[in-house]
Amino acid sequence: MHTISEYQQYFLEYLSKKTNTKEPKNLYEPISYILKLGGKRLRPVLVLMTSEIFDVSYKKALDAALAVETFHNFSLIHDDIMDDAPLRRGKETVHEKWDINTGILSGDAMLINAYQLFENYEGATFKELAKLFTKTAIEVCEGQQYDIDFETRDDVTIPEYIKMIEYKTAVLVGAAMKMGAIVAGASESSASSIYDFGRLLGLAFQLQDDYLDAFGDPATFGKQVGGDIIENKKTILYLKALEFATKNEQKQLQGLFSLTPDDPTEKIQMVTSLFESTGAKEKARLEIEDYTQKAFSLLDNMSITEDKKEILRLFGEKLMNRSV
Ligand code: IPE
Ligand code: IPE
Ligand code: MG
Ligand code: MG
Ligand code: MG
Repeated sequence: MHTISEYQQYFLEYLSKKTNTKEPKNLYEPISYILKLGGKRLRPVLVLMTSEIFDVSYKKALDAALAVETFHNFSLIHDDIMDDAPLRRGKETVHEKWDINTGILSGDAMLINAYQLFENYEGATFKELAKLFTKTAIEVCEGQQYDIDFETRDDVTIPEYIKMIEYKTAVLVGAAMKMGAIVAGASESSASSIYDFGRLLGLAFQLQDDYLDAFGDPATFGKQVGGDIIENKKTILYLKALEFATKNEQKQLQGLFSLTPDDPTEKIQMVTSLFESTGAKEKARLEIEDYTQKAFSLLDNMSITEDKKEILRLFGEKLMNRSV
């Protein structure tokens, strides 16, 4: 096994070897722009790490890791169009730097590139990877549609929200880990346990993403703080705030979430303070903790060595306490 930063390093070397800007420039430049913009590289690291957890060198998993990161970055380009987001990883989003049509087409090409990378695997491995990828990608689309549908609904429940974040975010984290297991030829039951671990960690990850969207530090967060509030996103903070609000606070919050003012400064301020006064901020933290613990409890029944479990626990804790 290697350290997280070593896996990141190996991945980045592979990425830079594999991305080159060809013609037409307006198709390929945005692709290398977004792929080289940085980011935590959480998903590819998980692919590499998981293949080694199941005793096969990370080198065999590099193409799967690149496929997952390429798909993730495709989804970010399209997500930023859908969410009207100006900033990504502290820089202009693709549709701001170029335009919406460029974002759509470069994103499409990335989705296809991701698929193509699985062709580097033989027979049964290829088939399993492609099957998992197809299932996951369609679920991400479903999750993204729920996310958009919820913007204009005022009766979203927490179970509906959990399903939405499971699809838009968590299944890809689970799939990243399962791909590592598939490449390593792990047993089906191991592959399925590690998928569930990743899926639960992915839920905690998206809860944390919602939390940071309102309470992250604008200097380091890399995205527009308050973006979810501007877009009336039904996040864990919003749903917990409604649950614990007084009648008066409820009315206020629902009122604010029916508006899209030209200058959102005051709306963001008022909503953020409602997230605090209702206790939603603390409740969200508890949910993050809870899903992380749920993930950890799955480790108990897994047949991997204790030191490998410890690596996965450390990874989960790091994610839960991140600020980016
Ligand atoms: C952002 O993902 C989109 C979500 C699913 C929350 P990350 O937070 O992993 O983004 P990068 O790749 O590190 O920038
Ligand atoms: C993104 O969710 C999920 C996908 C990209 C599939 P968000 O919209 O919350 O992600 P950020 O906050 O823009 O990174
Ligand atoms: Mg977004
Ligand atoms: Mg979104
Ligand atoms: Mg977000």
